[in-house]
Amino acid sequence: MNILGISAFYHDSAAALICDGEIIAAAQEERFTRIKHDHNFPVNAVKYCLAEGGVGKSDLDAVVFYDKPITKFARIMETYFSVAPKGLRSFMMAMPIWIRKKLWIPMEIEKSLLKCGIDMPEDIYFPEHHESHAASAFFPSPFESAAVLTVDGVGEWSTSSIGHGKGNKLEILSEMHFPHSLGLLYSAFTYFTGFRVNSGEYKLMGLAPYGESIYVDVIKDNLLDLRDDGSFRLNMDYFAYLDGLVMTNDKFAALFDGPARSAESEITKREMDIAKSIQVVTEEIVLKMARHAKEITGEKNLCMAGGVALNCVANGCIVQEKIFDNVWIQPAAGDAGGALGAALLIWHMVKDGPRDSDGLHDKVSGSYLGPDFKADDIQEYLDNKGYAYQNMPADSRGAIIAKILDDQNVVGHFAGRMEFGPRALGNRSILGDARSPQMQSIMNLKIKYRESFRPFAPSCLAEKASDFFELDAPSPYMLLVAPVKKSRCIQGQSDRDATVLKDWINEARSDVPAITHVDYSARVQTVSPDTNRPYYDIIKAFDERTGFGIIINTSFNVRGEPIVCTPEDAYRCFMRTEMDYLVLGDFLLAKTEQPEWKEEGDWRGEFVLD
Ligand SMILES: [Fe+2]
Repeated sequence: MNILGISAFYHDSAAALICDGEIIAAAQEERFTRIKHDHNFPVNAVKYCLAEGGVGKSDLDAVVFYDKPITKFARIMETYFSVAPKGLRSFMMAMPIWIRKKLWIPMEIEKSLLKCGIDMPEDIYFPEHHESHAASAFFPSPFESAAVLTVDGVGEWSTSSIGHGKGNKLEILSEMHFPHSLGLLYSAFTYFTGFRVNSGEYKLMGLAPYGESIYVDVIKDNLLDLRDDGSFRLNMDYFAYLDGLVMTNDKFAALFDGPARSAESEITKREMDIAKSIQVVTEEIVLKMARHAKEITGEKNLCMAGGVALNCVANGCIVQEKIFDNVWIQPAAGDAGGALGAALLIWHMVKDGPRDSDGLHDKVSGSYLGPDFKADDIQEYLDNKGYAYQNMPADSRGAIIAKILDDQNVVGHFAGRMEFGPRALGNRSILGDARSPQMQSIMNLKIKYRESFRPFAPSCLAEKASDFFELDAPSPYMLLVAPVKKSRCIQGQSDRDATVLKDWINEARSDVPAITHVDYSARVQTVSPDTNRPYYDIIKAFDERTGFGIIINTSFNVRGEPIVCTPEDAYRCFMRTEMDYLVLGDFLLAKTEQPEWKEEGDWRGEFVLD
């Protein structure tokens, strides 16, 4: 039985295909269209998934959309009538896409399947948004049973849920409803500190360690009324998202000593303190929710999804507090993952498809669920273009790349299937030496074209993780932040004295300075040979050369660009930046040997800054 899951029309549209319960393929539309967070109907992702599964004209058994558009529409109408005549402008702006697209989703699906030469199946489903998130968290998890926590901005009405998964069944036990939302609260602060809502939340999280939590009481005394079970009500007097085009209002600004920071302007101590304060409050809420989930389910395992589950600092707190024995977080925790969850939900809950679990292995194959490119096709592409390359024998591939990294080069690494979800996990990654005190600055300025206050994240050998970090749980999807081991840290750096962010971040704080944040933490990816052998072999060879089983892993893109999908995307990004080497599967390309790269116009205008 072939089931196609789709998420679309909000942000991060995606498609996923499961065949007899097995996850065959999943991808975000942005990777194909090269439009970051593309919200359009995922025609390209659908096409890719169906081709990957070899689904023929009349082979599709069911289609499932990740939420209930009509209920969502009803929420928007109800919200508008509750604040009218205020909010007319935002209402008028929202309506055209509803009238043109969102109310006609079955027709949109039929049209796009037609484009792929596939007949529309009779079975079409619309589970609830948080059911899709919960299903994406529980069904592919390693656990026979688990508590399930989903937290995001908003679906139809739900903004968070606690559920209980057992075998092939999943029950939602409690929900919090719009407008009271942890995701929207965090996004309000994202907006107020001058970052983009629905994409800059991770920047706010990265800024937090620079600040002091001086606004925690201001937030808790004025903005929300938090209960012991983690549920809360927001005081809507301070927020503008019900009736305006922005997230917060003047009353909110008065609480935080002045107007919202404008985008790209200088980041001051105020924004750092605000970031720290909302992070502290978020962690308190998430911990309360997790404890409540434990109480009402009695489970020792926790599964998580929803955009807030990408807050890896809060996730790290849940793990460190040991509320649960085991925690598994869906790597595509945002709305893209809803496509996968929705498909799994129909397979298990509607079709009663069986589910097995061994307590150890998940079913998302390292989240390497996207397109792969055959060696012959890559070679043909390189030959046609006349690009210089050399072939790396499989048994020395890891050692060759490790040597290049040890020689302080920056390497674009493109191999195997593309990752599903926002993180690059080695297959579409830019790699560098984590020991280098300069590498953070080099990679930021010459490769990513940003002056970031965020450090890079490390990929480290799973079995060596505890040599580097205070971490006793696997973190295969880079969704946990953990402290760098004290013995590796250089204490007594200037810490709070620095006023210029980039000087502050570029100070060495450990013997792996490029991945150590100002609070001596790191966002860790643990790499195992059974999930990604070629990537593991590079880090293993680097360990053998240097005694450090750890490298920098940052996504293969420049600022504002979706992660590269094809060899062409990778080569273009390689030539536009000051990367030294490009790996395309088993082929190695040196920058110095490439023909001159010519482009008309300034390519940097191509991407909207995120
Ligand atoms: Fe969501």
